[in-house]
Amino acid sequence: MLEKGTQEKLKIGVLVSGGGTNLQAILDATRNGSLPGEIVFVGSDNPDAYGLTRATKYGIPTFNVDYDSLLKNFDKRLDARMIPPDWNREDVLKKQSLFSPETPREKVDAFFKSRAVAEAVLLDQMAPYPFEVLVLAGFMRILSPYFIDRINTDPEKPRIMNIHPSLLPAFPGTDGYGDTFRYGCKVAGCTVHFVDYGEDSGPIIAQRAFPIEETDTEADVRKKGLAVEWALYPYCITLFAQNRLRVVRKKHTRSDGKKMEKAVVQVLPSRK
Ligand code: GRF
Repeated sequence: MLEKGTQEKLKIGVLVSGGGTNLQAILDATRNGSLPGEIVFVGSDNPDAYGLTRATKYGIPTFNVDYDSLLKNFDKRLDARMIPPDWNREDVLKKQSLFSPETPREKVDAFFKSRAVAEAVLLDQMAPYPFEVLVLAGFMRILSPYFIDRINTDPEKPRIMNIHPSLLPAFPGTDGYGDTFRYGCKVAGCTVHFVDYGEDSGPIIAQRAFPIEETDTEADVRKKGLAVEWALYPYCITLFAQNRLRVVRKKHTRSDGKKMEKAVVQVLPSRK
C-alpha cells in the first residue's frame, strides 16, 4: 500500500459479470489521477461481459472463467480429482455463514466443493497478475472461504471489496435497488464493503444514500444509484490506496444484556 510521498500505484484486480460501468468509473479515476492505482487485470465468469471489452480497449489483460460449465461438469461427474488438493472440508464448513446449521451437510458440502473447483481455476487465471486489492464490480458469484482465504492471507487486512446496490444490511442479494423500490423505501443507496464469508455481510467501508421521489420508477432508482456508485467506488479504493482503512473488532453489550463483537472499518484521516 502507498505511503505518503511515494509514486507507486496501487495494483487493482477487477472481477465483473456484466456491463462494467463501475469498472469504467474506476478506470477513468485511475486515468485522470484521482485514484492512485492501475488495473492489472479484469476477469469474468461471463465471456460476453461488456466489462471485458472495456478492459481490452485500454490494453488491460482479461480472462474468463467458465463457471457454468465447471459447476455443471463437477455436479455431473462428482470427480473428487477436480477438487483442489488444498481444499479443506472442515475448515470451509466451519467458516461458511451462507447456510444455516439445519441445512443438510451433504448439500452444503456439495455447494462448497463445486465452488472450490471453479475458484481454483479463477486463482490460476489471476496468478500471473500480482495485485494488492481485488475489486468485485458487479461480479455475481459467491466467493467461498477457500477463495477468500487465499486472497486475505493476513486476516487483519482484508483485500477483497464489493459494491452492493442497497444500504446494507438491508436488502442483501442480487437485486438491491429492485428490493428497495418494491419495499416502498423512501431512501435508497449503495454500500462498499470488504468481503467476508457471508453474503453481503462484510465490514462496511462507505455508504451513500439518495431519496426516492414519488414519481421515481424502479429504473429511475437503478439509474440514480449507479451514478452514485461511480463516485463511491473509486473513493473507497482511493482510501485503500492511501492505507486509510483499518478493520477493528468492536465489543458491545446489547440492550438485552447479550455481548457481541463486530468487525467494523475505521477510516483514518488523510495525512495531507
Ligand atoms: C451494480 O449495481 C453493483 O452495485 C452491483 O452490480 C451492478 C454492476 O453494474 N453489484 P456494472 O456492471 O458496474 O454496470
